Amino acid sequence: MKIAVLLGFIGFAVLQLAPAPYQIATAPVVTAQSVTSDPAVPQPVVAIVRRSCMDCHSYETRLPWYGKVAPSSWMLAKDVTEARAAMNLSDWGRKKAPVQAALAAAMCQGVQSGRMPKQRYVLLHPEAKLSPAEVQTFCAWSDAALASLTRSAPPRP
Ligand code: HEC
Repeated sequence: MKIAVLLGFIGFAVLQLAPAPYQIATAPVVTAQSVTSDPAVPQPVVAIVRRSCMDCHSYETRLPWYGKVAPSSWMLAKDVTEARAAMNLSDWGRKKAPVQAALAAAMCQGVQSGRMPKQRYVLLHPEAKLSPAEVQTFCAWSDAALASLTRSAPPRP
């Protein structure tokens, strides 16, 4: 029994030295580019994405302790890498209005369907779950973003 525990510890220690298959890229956060700085995004929506999305979908990842030890750190890094590739809210300000509107619509769909935030994240961060009212707030924003886009489109020749 003692041997098993010892071997377990050694295995765990060796794992920490193994090369990580995924690594969380660090990048300087340019606050002005972040979705949190966009005056067109209502504050309640900013609060929701900050709480429920930005750990994965931005450079502002807050790493929990299990994000620093293998092998959970690898799974976490994979999630964050893929999430940023799909949508990085730290780059929001670099996107054109139509892209932002499309992202807003995709975000609304994600929260409406319950696919986002990821179930495995909600298990560890119960506070990240959106209430039905918050889903509505979110989708009202994405609808408005799409609507303002069609309003501001140049008149057809
Ligand atoms: C645990 C990490 C994690 C969290 C938290 C998270 N996402 Fe994601 N998200 C991902 C990953 C990984 C992908 C990449 C593709 C996939 O697995 O669907 C993704 C993809 C997406 C996409 C791209 C297209 C799609 O629908 O698959 C959107 C939009 C999205 N997430 C919105 C959100 C929103 C909105 C929130 C917060 C309410 C959120 N996500 C929270 C990990 C996360």
